[in-house]
Amino acid sequence: MKNIFIILIIAIISNACTTISADTKKDLLTYHPAYHYTSEKNWVNDPNGMVYLEGEYHLFYQYNPFGEKWGHMSWGHAVSTDLKTWKELPVAIPEIKNSDGSVNMVFSGSAVIDSLNTSGLFEEGFKFGMVAIYTAHIEKDGKGIGQVQSLAYSSDKGRTWKFYDKNPVLDLKMTDFRDPSVFWHEGKWKMIVVKSLEYTAQIYESADLKSWELVSEFGKIGDYAKIWECPSLFKVPIENSDKFKWISMISSAHEDTDYVGMQYFIGEFDGKKFTPDAQKGVLRIDHGKDFYAAVPFNSRPDDQKYPIIMAWVNNWAYAGDLTAEGRRSMFIMPRKVSLIEKNGEYQMVQKPVFSDVIPTQMINLSMSKSANGKTIEMKSNSFHLNFTIDLTGSKGFSIDLLKNGDEKSTINYDSITKKLSFDRTKSGVVNFHEKFPSIENMTVEPENNIIKLDIFVDNSIVEIFANDGQAVLTNLVFPKNIGGSVNFNFVN
Ligand code: FRU
Repeated sequence: MKNIFIILIIAIISNACTTISADTKKDLLTYHPAYHYTSEKNWVNDPNGMVYLEGEYHLFYQYNPFGEKWGHMSWGHAVSTDLKTWKELPVAIPEIKNSDGSVNMVFSGSAVIDSLNTSGLFEEGFKFGMVAIYTAHIEKDGKGIGQVQSLAYSSDKGRTWKFYDKNPVLDLKMTDFRDPSVFWHEGKWKMIVVKSLEYTAQIYESADLKSWELVSEFGKIGDYAKIWECPSLFKVPIENSDKFKWISMISSAHEDTDYVGMQYFIGEFDGKKFTPDAQKGVLRIDHGKDFYAAVPFNSRPDDQKYPIIMAWVNNWAYAGDLTAEGRRSMFIMPRKVSLIEKNGEYQMVQKPVFSDVIPTQMINLSMSKSANGKTIEMKSNSFHLNFTIDLTGSKGFSIDLLKNGDEKSTINYDSITKKLSFDRTKSGVVNFHEKFPSIENMTVEPENNIIKLDIFVDNSIVEIFANDGQAVLTNLVFPKNIGGSVNFNFVN
């Protein structure tokens, strides 16, 4: 019976394998990703102000110019023309010291292109003014004393910035009121911002980005086990239709409430109020431990077709203790977001904007049960695997990634429970924090007994897209070796 399975194995190894000695291998070990963006040095967290202007994608982000720990929060800056490779630019918006000894850190927020000069901050007729709407986090003697929404603006494509001289533009006299996400909708600016410890998202509107009126709010729904941060609200296409729904993404707790994670709501937005649909349980964007603060790009030419998001790859549970190399953390590859209708319900789908990650080893494999025990030698820790797995006759499978002796990061699939798990307990350096070694899982329904996995491994990040992005898991790993193998086994 076992022999009836047809094996189709196509391995495309784009780079020729080279022989590397053990010593050189140690020297080549790096946690710096080859095809994910991160700053050359120092600390990064949330993506901020992601916006497109005149052929350039701008990624601003929370950045500490002075070290690899969180602090002195400023907006770092990188640009890309293709969302694939990024060029780091100097700090865009720095922390400011006030005359009374307090400091205004530049916390998370968004950026828009004020092409009609609604703000009056630019010269008449200037179409390319960029305005950043961010949270000024005011700290005195090391203690947060206020969070207010403020503006900075740039007339040279985000290279140099001025602070608006009448900041702040929104002040509720609160200490946890942050992360404004602003977008243009039907002739007005809309802002979604959170009262973090009240688990409430507020929606404001404005004609000029300077004066804001509260139009609605929602809160204490879905997951509010921990905190609400980095909200967003955007229109998302429903695949195979010409219809759209609105999605609000909120950074909050992970399923395991010892960690942070992200949820989303699907609903309708009438220009003032976001009304979430009834939902069964909490909708999770990514089931890994290292996906947070995701937000969409603003002002892309084909915004209406599909939004693109980026997220911070880390978890506040251990963020500051993460194994570092003069820098800490990174961002996911940009992902396209859409909705599909399944069993009468809508569900978010995420796909990488590009998957031809270069330079890297790429393996395409279709396998059925007789491919059991397959081992693929990898020449580095940066590669892309595309597996189509036929479950016929098996109870599941396991894939060891980055396998070197006992060291491995393992994907397990159980055909009965339909759970796909990722185990990083033996993935290499795990003991820098007790919360780091972990096993996460997500439900993946086979389609005609087939599971498709698109797996991106990039030195210290693993992004797994199951069944064309219907379930996604992002995790950090810190292998101690390079150039191990990928091992595939079916479970009988
Ligand atoms: C989310 C967050 C935001 C805040 C920023 C500070 O990771 O806590 O709420 O604006 O980080 O760096």
